[in-house]
Amino acid sequence: MKKAIVVLFVLLLAALLVTACGGGNTAPAAPTSAPAAPTAAPLPAGDVAKGTELYNQVCVACHGPGGIGVQGLGKDMTTSTFIAGLSDAELLEFVKKGRSVSDPLNTTGVDMPPKGGNPALTDAQLIDIIAYMRSIHK
Ligand code: HEC
Repeated sequence: MKKAIVVLFVLLLAALLVTACGGGNTAPAAPTSAPAAPTAAPLPAGDVAKGTELYNQVCVACHGPGGIGVQGLGKDMTTSTFIAGLSDAELLEFVKKGRSVSDPLNTTGVDMPPKGGNPALTDAQLIDIIAYMRSIHK
């Protein structure tokens, strides 16, 4: 009787081990062809020429010609590690939101207004401006 219980116990342990190891014959997480999370969907490519024009209408006053920045106003975009570190999608979100002086991440004590203070700008136009920003980045 006692022996039967021990055998049962051993069998149970063995069964547990097998299930814990996934049976050993299922393939390791097969790569799926499904695209990554929808939030990571790449943006359509922007048009640098259109972006340059828009930049020169909306952003140049603070960020200077060619994005080199203006003392006491917008920051230099050409050497910005912040810009370099963001994806286009993240940059789009940033430009739409701006970085007000009340934002703890604000570094200058000057407002970066949402969409550079031009609420009429569409996502497509901002994507063009982002293409321009990428083109001037060193
Ligand atoms: C009224 C002035 C002003 C205008 C117009 C403006 N910006 Fe800015 N922008 C700023 C200021 C000031 C900062 C820095 C904020 C801070 O202190 O962190 C900034 C920061 C940024 C940054 C982050 C740079 C970094 O290295 O942290 C980006 C990107 C940016 N602006 C994009 C734009 C774009 C694109 C436009 C045009 C659509 C624009 N800005 C128009 C004032 C402006």
